[in-house]
Amino acid sequence: MATRKKSADTGAGNGTRNDAESTNRSWGGRFQEATASDALGFTASIGFDIRLYPYDIRTSIAHARMLASTGIISAKDRDQIVRGLRDVEKELDEGAFVPTISDEDIHMAIERRLTEKIGAVGARLHAARSRNDQVVTDVRLFLKDAIAATLSAIDDLQSALVSQAQAYVGAIMPGYTHLQRAQPILLGHHLLAYHDMLERDRGRFEDCLDRADVLPLGSGALAGTTLEIDRAIVAEELGFARVAQNSMDAISDRDFVAEYLSAAAILMAHGSRLAGDITLWATSEFGFVRLHDAYSTGSSMMPQKKNPDIAELARGKTGRAFGNLMGVLTVMKGLPLAYNSDLQEDKEALFDGVDTAVRTTTTLAALLRSLTFDEKAMRAAADDGFLLATDLAEYLVARGVPFREAHEITGGIVLHCTEHGITPADLSATDLARFCDRFEEDVAEILTPEAAVDRRTSPGGTSGRNLKARLKQLSTSPGPRPSGGAKRRKR
Ligand code: ARG
Repeated sequence: MATRKKSADTGAGNGTRNDAESTNRSWGGRFQEATASDALGFTASIGFDIRLYPYDIRTSIAHARMLASTGIISAKDRDQIVRGLRDVEKELDEGAFVPTISDEDIHMAIERRLTEKIGAVGARLHAARSRNDQVVTDVRLFLKDAIAATLSAIDDLQSALVSQAQAYVGAIMPGYTHLQRAQPILLGHHLLAYHDMLERDRGRFEDCLDRADVLPLGSGALAGTTLEIDRAIVAEELGFARVAQNSMDAISDRDFVAEYLSAAAILMAHGSRLAGDITLWATSEFGFVRLHDAYSTGSSMMPQKKNPDIAELARGKTGRAFGNLMGVLTVMKGLPLAYNSDLQEDKEALFDGVDTAVRTTTTLAALLRSLTFDEKAMRAAADDGFLLATDLAEYLVARGVPFREAHEITGGIVLHCTEHGITPADLSATDLARFCDRFEEDVAEILTPEAAVDRRTSPGGTSGRNLKARLKQLSTSPGPRPSGGAKRRKR
């Protein structure tokens, strides 16, 4: 029965018996009394699993077709059921059918509405399945789409990183360790560090997809079914690569949810570091980036403020991403096989985990694209002669001095400079020769941030040559991968 309410009712919770509707629920046979409304409000998942309805419809259609192909239902019944399910889906799309709290969950809501529409035939659909294998099939289908969305969010952020690295290809800045200026680097090198982190994130989501790509339907409540079913055709129709081999594992494990949330937690940790860099760079103390008006906000009290809220929230939302993973792991911990209602708690964490990861990643991409880097300010910050101390030591090593000795000599130079309020770059070759006779005229050539960057041509180093080669490689690589997971393995 369609109601005019826009969203699922969340239950009155007043401890009274519910209306007649709830005595007619799908398992009502052995019950004489209706569920108490507070019990119903507490146990119902319809408030959030409504999001699974497109998957539940697909799953049910595939199941009905399979039931007909093995002769459990007739072709005529199948056609009626499939048509009915499509109608229910349309009603859900349009908001014409709004499940109520007494439907308990999306599976019962759809079946209830189907039976209202097509009559007794609807009651044949649930043969050889349980909500236990149904729900986990829906969640796996949802997850496959979620991974595709996550991978495209990763593509988006990677391409923003690449295009900013390209736009500021020669920009020099200080690189930091311990948040102390360490050595001159290229901004592009810094940005592409995140690109590579995201590439590993991609791999984790692809691995997760591979393991999630297994059909649980056909496992029944936990032990399979006595009816003759054909799981392969269901897998084929729903696009699953494999069929689960153990019915108890299939309905009771949520490791694929934990795996997604774990990959999402790492992705969010990476994003939070980029966000951390941006908040730092946007301070007046650093002044490396200017925030675009469209991607920053002001203060209600301090008129001068322009805040990097997006970066801050990207960082802050990492907390909920980690929390979602902890929540699901804790739900699974010590849970006796097979299905337990505890497992219903997987969905809100997963939905929030997906929404948070996708939205944070794409918004960070937009923020990054909107940034204007101040090349002058970055170059000025890198123009600190002390950042070239390692270059002096390596100059000596290249001329035969053992590194520890070279380090000691350079340490002496640094101390001398500190005492005289100058930097090593202020010293002439003759001055330097007083610390070590291996210093010659050509030492002057290495004492600029440009030289320090250019000379770091070691594989993976910050030189412009390396950066340009890497950018070229990235721009000619085949672009965003298909979301289906590149390297599907058969098990
Ligand atoms: N709403 C349930 C869930 O999310 C569906 C499965 C319920 N099965 C059961 N026997 N109560 O897990």
